[in-house]
This record gives sequence, structure tokens and C-alpha cells, in this order.
Amino acid sequence: MAASGEALEPRVLLCLGALLAPWVAAGLEAVIVGELHGNVTLRCGNISGPRGLVTWYRNDPEPILLLSSNASLVPAEPRFSLVNASALHIEVLSQQDEGNYTCREIRNGTQWFPVWLQVASGPDHIEVNISATGTLANGTLYVVKGSQVDFSCRSNAQPPPVVEWWFQAHSSPESFGSNLTVTCFTLLLMSQNLQGNYTCLATSMLSGRQRKVITELLVYSPPPSPPQCLAETALGSSAVQLTCRWDGGYPDPNFLWTEEPGGAIVGKSTLGVEMVNQSQLWDGKKFRCVGSHIVGPESGASCVVQIRMPSLFSDPMKTCFVGGNVTFTCQVSEANPPATIQWLRNLTQPEVVIQPDSRYLITQDGQSSTLTIRNCSQHLDEGYYVCRAENPVGTREVDIWLSVKEPVNIGSIVGIIVSLLLLGLFIISGLLLYYSPVSCWKVRSTFRRQDMGDVMVLVDSEEEKEDEQEDATEEEAEEEETQREEPPKEMKKHGHIHRVTALVNGNLEQMGNGLQDLQDDSNEQQSDNVQEEDRPV
Ligand SMILES: *[C@@H]1O[C@H](CO)[C@@H](O)[C@H](O)[C@H]1NC(C)=O
Ligand SMILES: *[C@@H]1O[C@H](CO)[C@@H](O)[C@H](O)[C@H]1NC(C)=O
Ligand SMILES: *[C@@H]1O[C@H](CO)[C@@H](O)[C@H](O)[C@H]1NC(C)=O
Ligand SMILES: *[C@@H]1O[C@H](CO)[C@@H](O)[C@H](O)[C@H]1NC(C)=O
Ligand SMILES: *[C@@H]1O[C@H](CO)[C@@H](O)[C@H](O)[C@H]1NC(C)=O
Ligand SMILES: *[C@@H]1O[C@H](CO)[C@@H](O)[C@H](O)[C@H]1NC(C)=O
Ligand SMILES: *[C@@H]1O[C@H](CO)[C@@H](O)[C@H](O)[C@H]1NC(C)=O
Ligand SMILES: *[C@@H]1O[C@H](CO)[C@@H](O)[C@H](O)[C@H]1NC(C)=O
Ligand SMILES: *[C@@H]1O[C@H](CO)[C@@H](O)[C@H](O)[C@H]1NC(C)=O
Ligand SMILES: *[C@@H]1O[C@H](CO)[C@@H](O)[C@H](O)[C@H]1NC(C)=O
Ligand SMILES: *[C@@H]1O[C@H](CO)[C@@H](O)[C@H](O)[C@H]1NC(C)=O
Ligand SMILES: *[C@@H]1O[C@H](CO)[C@@H](O)[C@H](O)[C@H]1NC(C)=O
Repeated sequence: MAASGEALEPRVLLCLGALLAPWVAAGLEAVIVGELHGNVTLRCGNISGPRGLVTWYRNDPEPILLLSSNASLVPAEPRFSLVNASALHIEVLSQQDEGNYTCREIRNGTQWFPVWLQVASGPDHIEVNISATGTLANGTLYVVKGSQVDFSCRSNAQPPPVVEWWFQAHSSPESFGSNLTVTCFTLLLMSQNLQGNYTCLATSMLSGRQRKVITELLVYSPPPSPPQCLAETALGSSAVQLTCRWDGGYPDPNFLWTEEPGGAIVGKSTLGVEMVNQSQLWDGKKFRCVGSHIVGPESGASCVVQIRMPSLFSDPMKTCFVGGNVTFTCQVSEANPPATIQWLRNLTQPEVVIQPDSRYLITQDGQSSTLTIRNCSQHLDEGYYVCRAENPVGTREVDIWLSVKEPVNIGSIVGIIVSLLLLGLFIISGLLLYYSPVSCWKVRSTFRRQDMGDVMVLVDSEEEKEDEQEDATEEEAEEEETQREEPPKEMKKHGHIHRVTALVNGNLEQMGNGLQDLQDDSNEQQSDNVQEEDRPV
């Protein structure tokens, strides 16, 4: 029995060699793809129903008997088995199993069925390499905006798979960009819209098996300009809100506020906003904000804010004609945080904050406030007005005196008198120069004194101006030294100044009481301003 079995083998081999060629040429063989380490079943022809004696061979290149449905023949390897008494089942495929197989069936004659087994491996794992700037704590990659980024994707698949790169932006769930069938590519200028998920998809064309790796890539950019420090008065409190602005970066930077100098920490946050109590503030106090960004400068970027109390400037005096309009302007400088500006009335105690209405118009432009009083009335409006600027580190006030006058047109009269006076002086000086050119310097200084006197004179009456004119005539004759020693004239001039000073202080009653305030140390500036004040008369 064994002998006949052995005798069969050579014949089979001969037949195989003769019979396989035409089928192969005709493309009749079946192609089966198995996966590495997987199982595969090769069918013996496309026949259903009861089968004859089935024997499987491997053409390697000589035919090798693998197994048969004759149970007395032992399979070549335990991995091989028959399914449905005809199909060859191979377990745990290896790359060596790839090749051509033949099934022989004896059933009402002999039939041959060739099968081509291909073994595909992978892709099992994909190696994605992205030349990122860094990796976050959670493993996410990030790159700096504008940088060049290389992407590569490798897999161990056999035969080599088709690799595609996909990109999905954060905003749109739709796929975007090209279906790259390359394993490597480079993006030259990373921009914000290239932030998203990069997918490398490897497909084995043999098995159709796909593997993909999704890598999230963040595109970070530092803020384009230096940070800006701001101090503001906190709403509804006297605390100061320090704000550090450093916009335009991604992700948001972190901020650290410190006291300057010393570096005591005020606060750390991603908002850059800190509150400082009034008790920790004084005029000139400085705070520093340091902004740090993951792709920003290593030492961070900083700005400094200095707290300042307000300084005020305003004209100390204003004049309004009855029925006319007058506008006060109050200019605040240096205040940080910016001051709130209020106008107050000081006719009655306590002071009253002026509210805008049909007569009072208040406008504010930045740190400059104006108060316009319409339709001036002497008994309602004359008096002190106070401009008050306040911020958490201080309050400053300036008083403004408003005098309301009857609209008498004495301006032109005064103008004529002044012109006449000046004309007279010019004639006199001309004469002096003509008759004694040597003494011209004296004449000149005389003129200067004369001018000062004239301006003061304008405050009061025409009588005095006439006096002055007389004086001038006297001077014509006399030497200047004589005039200097003339005490009554000097006193007279001082008298003007004192009266005006009383006016500046604005206490009408005191003015009425005479010159009590002569020794008042009201400042010199105000007395100087008298001249301005009276000019519009
Ligand atoms: C099965 O194999 C044995 C030994 O090779 C042989 O003697 C027997 O005839 C075979 N049976 C058939 C049905 O071919
Ligand atoms: C292969 O076949 C064996 C036995 O039939 C089974 O135990 C195993 O799970 C199969 N393996 C795969 C990958 O299907
Ligand atoms: C098997 O045969 C049936 C009919 O004979 C046919 O429809 C089917 O496509 C065949 N299958 C294969 C894999 O050749
Ligand atoms: C084996 O036979 C069963 C039932 O006829 C069928 O469903 C199955 O597909 C067959 N297996 C193979 C590998 O041909
Ligand atoms: C199987 O046969 C085909 C021709 O039908 C041939 O191209 C292929 O190389 C053979 N495979 C092996 C592993 O010899
Ligand atoms: C064998 O072949 C003959 C003629 O070709 C046919 O009459 C007979 O039915 C076949 N037997 C089987 C089992 O297929
Ligand atoms: C990734 O690519 C860079 C250069 O492109 C190389 O230096 C690095 O070793 C690669 N990393 C891995 C894990 O392959
Ligand atoms: C990692 O952290 C970054 C920044 O916090 C975040 O944008 C990203 O979604 C995180 N990624 C994962 C996978 O958690
Ligand atoms: C990217 O993938 C992560 C997790 O893999 C997911 O949380 C995130 O939403 C994805 N982003 C986009 C834009 O699809
Ligand atoms: C990707 O491109 C290839 C060839 O350009 C194409 O065959 C394939 O269908 C594309 N894949 C998708 C998902 O569009
Ligand atoms: C005062 O102001 C009001 C409103 O601006 C204007 O109508 C009026 O003519 C002004 N009066 C004078 C005298 O300028
Ligand atoms: C208000 O007027 C009084 C005198 O009437 C004066 O002592 C006081 O300083 C004034 N206040 C302001 C803020 O001007």
C-alpha cells in the first residue's frame, strides 16, 4: 500500500509540471491574500456540494504534498488543515507561506485548481515625525508661527503601503488641503490656519488594511508688540486696577505684577489685572508687569506704570458780561490713574457739585474739562468756582474767580486814552533825543517804568491816567533819579496792586472792609494776573 502511495507521487509531479502552465497563462488561478500572523483558507475551486478526494500541493518550485482528504496521509505541518473536506486552512501565516498552491480533486476524473497566496504585512504601526519646536506637558506638539516644519511618516508594511497626509483645521470639520500620497513633506511658513490635526494614513494595497496616526499641532505666536501697563481707578472703589496688555499672541501669555523697586509680588495671572488698595499707593509709586509667553522672549517682556497724583492748571480769573457766556477750562496733567474732574461752586458752604443743565454745560475731553456758564447773572454767578481733580492717590483743587460785569463799552475809550498816552510819550522821547542824545538811556528806562504804570492805571480811573500824564510831563523836565525818590507815586502803584489782590482773593466783604488783606500772603502769581484780568474792560 505504501509502495503504491509512493508510486503516485512522481506521476503527480509530472502532471503538475505539464498542467499548471496553461492555467497560469489563462489567469485562471485564484489569488488569495493573507495577513502576516493571520489565518487564511484556500478553496479548492469554486464548487459547492460533495467533494472527491482532495490533495493540496505547494509549488516550491517542485510540488510538495501538504495534506489530503485521505485521512491516512498526515499533514506536512500542524498549521495545515482541511475545511469542508476541500479547502486548505493555514494558521499563523508567515512571509514564507507566500507562493503558488495547487489543489487536485479526483472525482469523476481529476481536476486541478491553482491558488496564488500572497502574504501582506502591516501597516501595524506608523511612525510620524514632525519637526516641532516643542512638546507641551500633555504631549501636544507646538511650532512657532512662521517657522518651517518637516513632516514624515514611516510604516513597516510589506509590500510598502500608500501613505496619505490629511489635515483638519480646528474651525472646520471638513478635510482641507491636499491628499498627499507622499511620506514626507515640508511646510515652509507655518500660519495660524495650519493649526490642527495632521493625519498620516497608510494603506496596504494588498490587504486594504489601514492605519492612521493623528497628531495635533499647535501654531504658537508671541505678541507682536511690547506689553502696555495701565492704571485705572476701580469702579465703585478707591482701589487701583493695574492692567497689563500684551495682545496678539497665542496662546495667552502669563503676567506677573511686582512692586518697583523691591520686586515684591503683587499678583500672577493670565489676565494681567491686579487690584491694589489705596493704602499701598502713594504719589510716584511704580509697578512693573512682566509678560511671559511660551514662544516669546526667554526673560519675558515688561512695562512699568507710575502712580501719580493729579496736577491742575486753570486760569485763576474769568470775566463774564451780564447775559453773556463764559467758559472755564481746567487741564489735569500727570494724573495716573486718570483723575475724575468735577466743578464745584463755593458761594455757599458746603460746596456744591455743579450738575450740567440748561445754564451749565460741562464737557470733558481726556483730562481737560470745560465748564460753560450761559446767560451770566451778577448775583447768581459771580464768585468762586472750584475745579477738583481726584484720583486714588490725591485730590487737587484750583479756585477760579468769576466776575460778572455790565457790558459797558469803555474798552474803546481806554484804547483811545492809551493811544494818546503812547503818542505823547513818543513825542516827548523824540524831543529828548533831539535835544540831549547823550541822556537817551535814561529816557528809555523812564519809558519802561512809565509803561508799567500805565497798565496798572487801566484798572481804575481816568483821573489817575491824567495824573500819570502830568507826571510824565514833569519827568520831561526832571531827571529820572528824582522820580525814583518820589515816594507818593510808588505808594500809589502799590495801592493798585493791593486792591487788585483783594479782588483775586475774591472775598467781597473783605474788599469792602478796606485793605485788610494787604499783608495777606496771597501769592504773587495771582497779583500778576490782575493785569490780564482787567484787560477786557
Ligand atoms: C489513502 O492512502 C493510503 C496510503 O497511502 C492508500 O493505501 C489508500 O488507497 C488511499 N485511499 C484512497 C481513497 O485513495
Ligand atoms: C486562526 O485559527 C485558529 C484555529 O482555527 C484560531 O484559534 C485563531 O484564533 C485564528 N486566528 C485568527 C487571527 O483568526
Ligand atoms: C463561483 O461560481 C459561481 C457560479 O458557478 C459564480 O457565480 C461565482 O462568481 C464563482 N465565484 C468565484 C470566486 O469564482
Ligand atoms: C464550509 O461549508 C459551509 C457550509 O456549507 C460554508 O458555509 C462555508 O463557507 C464553507 N467553508 C469554506 C472555507 O468553504
Ligand atoms: C505564482 O505564480 C505567478 C504566475 O501565475 C507568478 O507570477 C508568481 O511569481 C508565482 N509566485 C511565486 C511565489 O512563485
Ligand atoms: C461522472 O461523469 C459522468 C459522465 O461525464 C456523469 O454521467 C456522472 O454523473 C458523473 N458522476 C458524478 C458523481 O459526478
Ligand atoms: C525626526 O526627524 C529628525 C530630522 O528630520 C531627526 O533628527 C529625528 O531623529 C527624527 N526622530 C525620529 C523619532 O525619527
Ligand atoms: C494639550 O494642551 C493644550 C494646551 O493646554 C491644548 O490646547 C490641547 O488640546 C491639549 N491636548 C490634549 C490632547 O489634551
Ligand atoms: C484633534 O484631535 C484631538 C484628539 O485626537 C481632538 O480632541 C481635537 O478635537 C482634534 N482637533 C480637530 C481640529 O479635529
Ligand atoms: C487620494 O488621492 C489618491 C490619488 O490621488 C486617490 O486615489 C484617493 O482616492 C484619494 N483619497 C481620498 C480619500 O480622496
Ligand atoms: C451763549 O451760548 C448759547 C449756546 O451755545 C448761544 O446760543 C448764545 O448765543 C451764546 N450767547 C452769547 C452772548 O454768545
Ligand atoms: C470757599 O470759600 C471760603 C471762604 O468763603 C474759603 O475759605 C475756602 O477756602 C473756599 N474753598 C475753596 C475750595 O475754594
